[in-house]
This record gives sequence, structure tokens and C-alpha cells, in this order.
Amino acid sequence: MKILITAGPTREYLDDVRFLSNASSGRMGLAIAQAATDAGHQVVLVCGPIELPPPPGCEVVDVEGTRDMYDACMARFAECDGVIAAAAVCDYGPRERHSGKLSKTGEGLSLELVEMPDILAELGRRKEHRWSIGFALESQDPHAHAVDKLRRKNCDAILLNRPSAIGADDNAIELIDTSGETVVSWTGRKTDIARRLIEWIDQHFGG
Ligand code: C5P
Repeated sequence: MKILITAGPTREYLDDVRFLSNASSGRMGLAIAQAATDAGHQVVLVCGPIELPPPPGCEVVDVEGTRDMYDACMARFAECDGVIAAAAVCDYGPRERHSGKLSKTGEGLSLELVEMPDILAELGRRKEHRWSIGFALESQDPHAHAVDKLRRKNCDAILLNRPSAIGADDNAIELIDTSGETVVSWTGRKTDIARRLIEWIDQHFGG
């Protein structure tokens, strides 16, 4: 199969030197990209700014802003069989980007934030025969929130994990399918979880 994978954070700039972002290392997305190429799949990896090198053998599209990630995904999804959205996308960004560097004025500064486009939700609208899998990082009422995301984004499965996953080498993930039930749970190294996820995808969507 040809699989679109998003990974890493996105950045939303307030001015030319400052941005809003998050602490995503991209590890989970890279581990999935590696596992998918190891299993013989073609991978288009749309990746936000991260320190780690992408696995060899996948086609990497480097992006920085949420809208860049959105455009890259919309441009490449049609040629793919499915998408795994592991990116930690900014939900909000500044309404405007100031040119140059904002200076201190001695007073407070209010930022107006606007909602960013939801990439996975839009892919879910456009997917037709393709499959889509998202992540849900939840702390409160995790299962219900994850199921809500699965439905809103029209996913075939959602991978529920907790904030402790951010930046870590290990993870604990529940896979929830369209029944709304947890059908499998994995704990351990992100690389091992990624391999099991690709096996699950092969069994369910591999034809
Ligand atoms: O941020 P949220 O919890 O809604 O993320 C759930 C899923 O949706 C993740 O797979 C994430 O990659 C994806 N997402 C996205 N575009 C956004 C927000 C989230 O693709 N703007």
C-alpha cells in the first residue's frame, strides 16, 4: 500500500522569530513510517519541524505551519490508500503574523488566536474508499473523547494515548475502531507499537 503519515508538531508564528507550538518529538510518527517501510509499504511522510532524522526509504515532505501541512496532505492523499495522522497539529494560531520582531512596549500584549484547519477531518471528508487513522491524546474522560474524535473526523480507527507519551520512547495505546470499543491495547517501545499497528492495518485494510 501507499500510506500518508503525518508526524511532528506544527508552528504558528506571531512574528518572524516567535511561534506557538508543542513538545511533540515526532518519535511515534517516525516509528510508524519506519515500520510501514519495513513491511514493504510506500510512505509519504509529511513532517513538521523535528530533531530526529526521518527513516530511510520514505518520501519526506518537510512542512512548518499547519496550513503547509494541510496543503501537502491534500495534494498527496489521492495517490495513497490511507492515512495515519500522528502529527501534533496546532489547534490555534495568531490571527496575524507581524513582520520583523515585536518589541516590548512596557505593557501587556494580547494575542488573538484563530482555529487552524483540521487536516484529518478534511481527509476524512475526502477519503472515499481510503482508510484513515488518527491519534487522540487525552487526559480526562479519555475513551469518550477519543470516540467523539473518531466520529467527528470520520476515522476507521483512533489510537488513544496519554500526555505521558509526549517526547517519550515508550507509550501505551488503545486502538478503538468504528464500533466505539477498544479492540486492542499495546504498551512498550514506540517502535514495537508501530510494528503492531502496521500489522493490524495490513490485516484490516491490506486486501
Ligand atoms: O488535536 P486533536 O486531538 O483533535 O488530534 C486528533 C487527531 O487529529 C490526530 O491524529 C491529529 O494528528 C489530527 N489533527 C489534524 N489537524 C488538526 C488537529 C488534529 O490532522 N488541526
